[in-house]
Amino acid sequence: MAGRTVLTLLFLLCTIMQRGQGQLSETFYSTSCPKVESIVRQVVAQKITQTFVTVPATLRLFFHDCFVEGCDASVMIASPNGNAEKDAPDNLSLAGDGFDTVIKAKAAVEKSCPRVVSCADILTIAARDVVALAGGPSFKVELGRRDGLISMASRVAGNLPESNFSLTQLNAIFAKNNLDQTDMIALSGAHTLGFAHCTRFANRLYSFSPSSPVDPDLNSTYAQQLMQACPQNVDSQIAINMDPVTPRTFDNTYFKNLVNKMGLFTSDEVLFTNKASRATVVDFANNPGNFNGAFVAAMRKLGRVGVKTGTAGQIRVDCTAFNS
Ligand code: HEM
Ligand SMILES: *[C@@H]1O[C@H](CO)[C@@H](O)[C@H](O)[C@H]1NC(C)=O
Ligand SMILES: *[C@@H]1O[C@H](CO)[C@@H](O)[C@H](O)[C@H]1NC(C)=O
Ligand SMILES: *[C@@H]1O[C@H](CO)[C@@H](O)[C@H](O)[C@H]1NC(C)=O
Repeated sequence: MAGRTVLTLLFLLCTIMQRGQGQLSETFYSTSCPKVESIVRQVVAQKITQTFVTVPATLRLFFHDCFVEGCDASVMIASPNGNAEKDAPDNLSLAGDGFDTVIKAKAAVEKSCPRVVSCADILTIAARDVVALAGGPSFKVELGRRDGLISMASRVAGNLPESNFSLTQLNAIFAKNNLDQTDMIALSGAHTLGFAHCTRFANRLYSFSPSSPVDPDLNSTYAQQLMQACPQNVDSQIAINMDPVTPRTFDNTYFKNLVNKMGLFTSDEVLFTNKASRATVVDFANNPGNFNGAFVAAMRKLGRVGVKTGTAGQIRVDCTAFNS
């Protein structure tokens, strides 16, 4: 009996060592690169003074990174052949300023601590910082991720939610990433910031159904405004604020908008129209503290999706290329 227990333990130990497993921790770089968080913060703050797009672009980049291959900076890889993750049609027009933020922060970090901090962790810190710098909650992040070795456009499809998803589809794709419905609703609150192209919601204005071209779940005043900003067959480059009320502030206005039927995407408004998620939306609309708390918890959970730790993956020198 005892012999078998020892064998089992040995076996477990070997498995763990083979997988190079380590753990995320808030103090991961406290001896190897104690200033990493202040260095990244300074670069992010500086970049925001140049362009506000830094804020939504970086937050969304983190989300897309984590949902495809895990939070491992796979989304950062550039490819001359156009077949890396970021080249997928589903990259949903990730704004260049998110990539630029990580590249600049990495350059600054390399000066103090060469080859120590992963690009995946830098993106995690930067995504946290843009939220706080836009008026949202400040929170601690876990660190110790390593950068992935796979970045393929062909592995993006099906792993990211789409703007016409139902509640069931949203819950399913988040559940695949260990995030529950409350996490999903809280994280959707990121749409309090940033821009969307008219093509993402034009169907709700012009071709919803044969009997009602305008989506009946869209506030009619808001629908009029959207039609003005996005006439039929408008230039596909045109983008509008997702939160028309406080577009540059990370706050709970997104949820107040949903209650007013001013959710921009079907996937936003469905959180209020579906009875199974409505109570959470109303709670977040009325209690900003509850939203902030749920958002922080969900961001920390998002940051654990598919992470590589210990000796898995690598610490990239250049975030846009695998080490040679
Ligand atoms: C719940 C399912 C989600 C869907 C269906 C969705 C879909 C989209 C779409 C279609 C856009 C507009 C892209 C464009 O037209 O350029 C967008 C923008 C954005 N999304 Fe989401 N998203 C979801 C969840 C999230 C999450 C979890 C986050 C982050 C925590 C996030 C952060 C953002 C941000 C910040 C923008 C604005 C980007 C910019 O201005 O550059 N989204 N999202
Ligand atoms: C996203 O993918 C399209 C091709 O589908 C590509 O033209 C575009 O440059 C990509 N965006 C980024 C930021 O890599
Ligand atoms: C969402 O849109 C895509 C592309 O237009 C379509 O293939 C898909 O069936 C739609 N999904 C839902 C749930 O309407
Ligand atoms: C439409 O939005 C306005 C605020 O812009 C709000 O006062 C009104 O109640 C909304 N209508 C519906 C049906 O929610």
